[in-house]
Amino acid sequence: MTKQPTHWWQSATVYQIYPRSFADSNGDGMGDLPGIVSKLDYLQQLGIGVIWLSPIFQSPMADNGYDIADYEAIAPIFGTLEDFDRLIAEAKARGIGILMDLVVNHTSDHHRWFIDARSARTSRYRDFYVWRDAGSDGGLPNDIQSTFGGPAWTLDEASGQYYFHQFAKEQPDLNWENPEVRAEIYAMMNRWLDRGIAGFRMDVINLIAKEPDRGITADGPKLHEYLQEMHRETLAGRDVLTVGESWSATPESALLYSGRDRRELSMVFQFEHVMAQWHETWGKWQPKPFDLVGLKRIISRWQEALADDGWNSLFWGNHDLPRAVSKYGDDKGYRVESAKMLATVLHFLKGTPYVYQGEEIGMTNVPFTSIAQYRDIETLNMHRLHLEAGLPEADFIAGANENGRDNSRTPMQWSAGPNAGFTSGTPWIDVNPNHTQINVEAAEHDPLSILAHYRRLIALRKEMRIIVDGRYRSWLDEHPDVMAYTRSVADQSIMVVANFTARSVTVDVPQALRRKWVTVIGAAAPADVLPATLSLGPFEANVWATAASVDG
Ligand code: GLC
Repeated sequence: MTKQPTHWWQSATVYQIYPRSFADSNGDGMGDLPGIVSKLDYLQQLGIGVIWLSPIFQSPMADNGYDIADYEAIAPIFGTLEDFDRLIAEAKARGIGILMDLVVNHTSDHHRWFIDARSARTSRYRDFYVWRDAGSDGGLPNDIQSTFGGPAWTLDEASGQYYFHQFAKEQPDLNWENPEVRAEIYAMMNRWLDRGIAGFRMDVINLIAKEPDRGITADGPKLHEYLQEMHRETLAGRDVLTVGESWSATPESALLYSGRDRRELSMVFQFEHVMAQWHETWGKWQPKPFDLVGLKRIISRWQEALADDGWNSLFWGNHDLPRAVSKYGDDKGYRVESAKMLATVLHFLKGTPYVYQGEEIGMTNVPFTSIAQYRDIETLNMHRLHLEAGLPEADFIAGANENGRDNSRTPMQWSAGPNAGFTSGTPWIDVNPNHTQINVEAAEHDPLSILAHYRRLIALRKEMRIIVDGRYRSWLDEHPDVMAYTRSVADQSIMVVANFTARSVTVDVPQALRRKWVTVIGAAAPADVLPATLSLGPFEANVWATAASVDG
């Protein structure tokens, strides 16, 4: 086994902020950069080393900023460049780096490149985007569908050609085949890096090398060539964290993205565990029941494949996903227990953990009852398409309640006060009514809160090298209710054992684990050698350590 070089981001925890919904400083109902600055002490106490900011650039906000109109300017609703510089400096003073969200698969249709490109076929920017003539039948160039529903091609009447967009029609895809496009992007990245950011989260990076004429959207043949070029032109020689979003990543491709000699990215976000729970045709709108054995199999596969090279990112939630405790835990009877259990299971895996804002206080999905309460472009588009397809509206709302993106986008719950202390104005999206119970202020006063648990987990990663380096091994693979794994170095192992159900369960302890343990987190380990049967209460999760490797 080759020893991996150690990077600062391997022992850091990243906290994702959705700026619109985090903290509003000026009462316009939208979070902003000064709001984030005002919460930096809170984040420092949490112990995180990095903030990933969802996009804050100038944007018409068709997709809440994932449609960028100017890569050089901050959206006025979020603040100014001075505010951003202050955020970088104030965060740095607290040992926190800032990751920007790099959205370069597409721009907004309001970007000056696109406005110019569509103005004439002869525009100097025409080839910055992907244009095609109508198909032989006079209609769409081909049948590629967009992620947000409907065709991935929209006719530009004036110039008589179709442009390609893998998301909304307001998000035209950039043409990465064009070296000028790539040069513009690298120059822009360098300007932000020079400004002092700690790296980038790269939006749908698996899609940039599309070849639509061949039906190729994800993982195009030139993808890794482009990423290596990007590395050479921007990242080389800088000690930054880069994480690429890839819904198509496999453990094999993750090694290409993040392998130590590849010179591409630090790591990728992969979504196998998310998509395993979706319906084959209707995707997330018709979720499948939770299957722990399947989830464990996926986690183990990723842990093992990236054991010696490459690096995992670890997350339960983000701004596109439902709330972790609602999805994988029990947000009713056992909210606190299950949120802590999920955090424990994730934070002892090998990789860099990501905490999505509000997860650290156990924020839940939001019980919207009407489509009028939803704001997300994907949810609204899919709602229309489902009704057009004759599906009952109630079914769609049920699916959106479970998996819609707005679940994670309701305002951060700071207090039990009006609008959860998020804004003094009218929030852009309804606040979850449960903020009266679930909020930061309440958690601060409770030593047994989910928040206190997160603080402990994040601190442990910095104290215990075994959490960063230890070899992963799974146990009890076929147990339907319990997840168990160990992390080992030559002279130590830690064991994580967690009950994913609201029932008490027992497990047969494998011979190799029947030894003497000491408690790291959770219930006290037995005073003597661990017996052959172990009982766990609802959502109980324990982490114990022993002074030898159980891997043999
Ligand atoms: C990514 C983002 C998502 C966005 C999409 C298009 O999946 O996480 O929020 O809508 O890309 O940019």
